[in-house]
Amino acid sequence: VPQNKLTPVTPALWSSRFVFIMAAVGSAVGLGNIWKFPYITGENGGGAFVLVYLVCIAIIGLPLMMSEVMLGRRGAKSPIGSMAVVAKAEGRSPHWVGVGIMATLAAFLILSFYSVIAGWTMPYIVSAVSGQFSGISAQSTGALFEDLLASPWQLLMWHSLFMGLTILVSAGGVRHGLENAVTKLMPALFVLLLILVGYAATTGHFGEAVSFLFKPNFSALTAESILVALGHAFFTLSLASGAMMAYGAYLPKNVSIARTAVVVGVMDTCVALLAGLAIFPIVFAHGLAAGEGPGLIFVTLPVAFGQMPGGSFFATLFFVLLLFAAWTSSISMLESLVSYLNEKGISRVTAAIGGGLAAWLVGITTLLSLNVWSDFTPLDMFARFEGKTLFDLYDYLTANIMMPVVALLIALFVGWKVNPEHSKAELGAWHKVWFPVIRYLSPIALLIVFYFNLK
Ligand code: PHE
Ligand code: NA
Repeated sequence: VPQNKLTPVTPALWSSRFVFIMAAVGSAVGLGNIWKFPYITGENGGGAFVLVYLVCIAIIGLPLMMSEVMLGRRGAKSPIGSMAVVAKAEGRSPHWVGVGIMATLAAFLILSFYSVIAGWTMPYIVSAVSGQFSGISAQSTGALFEDLLASPWQLLMWHSLFMGLTILVSAGGVRHGLENAVTKLMPALFVLLLILVGYAATTGHFGEAVSFLFKPNFSALTAESILVALGHAFFTLSLASGAMMAYGAYLPKNVSIARTAVVVGVMDTCVALLAGLAIFPIVFAHGLAAGEGPGLIFVTLPVAFGQMPGGSFFATLFFVLLLFAAWTSSISMLESLVSYLNEKGISRVTAAIGGGLAAWLVGITTLLSLNVWSDFTPLDMFARFEGKTLFDLYDYLTANIMMPVVALLIALFVGWKVNPEHSKAELGAWHKVWFPVIRYLSPIALLIVFYFNLK
């Protein structure tokens, strides 16, 4: 039973496996699938990158999700608290708590820039409602997007609004809000993506998009793009950030962790692939650059909406659902820190406001790096970080460094430091497959990726 005696946002336990799945899917499905996956796939050459990403999900992401939910359920505390509890119960060094701390830090940093990006969906809702996209050209959507990035005050307004929404749910404990959002809006997003894929199929460039996404061209693959694929596997599944551990703490004992993790992982992957199938036909039909970068969906999708019947309606719906998807993710990011502060005796309201405001402040540096500080690339002296703005650096630091390191440490912990009898008691029959994978395969795969990126 969770030790969290203050005011939990979530119930003492999720009311059912279904609700946990929906909360976990709410955390997993977000900007990572619809915004980030398409643009990094475009930047990293398509097929081979997608294949590596899928392999990372299968051999590292899924077993790690099982591990994190297991640690969370066993510790029944915040990610930091759960690491301490389990390390102690297993008679291991108290230093393992550092893994929880690093995960919480990663979640905090991600939240800081995630909120800025999520904020972009709001002016797009406004444009969609006002019919601004009808008949719009790719050139005009590009200009629209650039105008938005060039306006720090506008960005600040939307960033503040989004962070406010995140704090609100986190502080208020509107469990039903979260449940409703994930159980009704996630399916709606899924259906809408299917409609968009259907539209994209009529552009005549669907085949091109399919072969771009699924025909691997290994010559386009670099050590760095493999690292990006790996980092994205963690990012998209909300791993190595405490989010899944924090939610796992509320999972009833009788629920199968492994089956649940597979459902969440498959749903998340489907949403990402659907987003890719919706976006790339439009990219090719309009001769846009696949490697356009973070603006990819904001430049491409409005063009499609502008041409399809009922486009303003679908555009509005799409950006609203994307906003909700981002919201249910950001709530889970803040949960790592809030649950910890809450454990330390700070009320949930104070913790949510304090943590949220701190992330909001750091987010302002991301926001400025899109305009007034766009030439500020402080780590140019290292080839790896050359030309990276603060936003690029936060993204790189979290997805490509912190998350893989946390993932490796968690794999080593559950694979080597937790008594297999204990993990077996949590995972049941699935333990047979999970154990050798998390003990050998995942760490070795991680070390290989590290090796090729460091040499
Ligand atoms: N998984 C979320 C997404 O794909 C992002 C996220 C990362 C959420 C880390 C929680 C923790 O958008
Ligand atoms: Na995701």
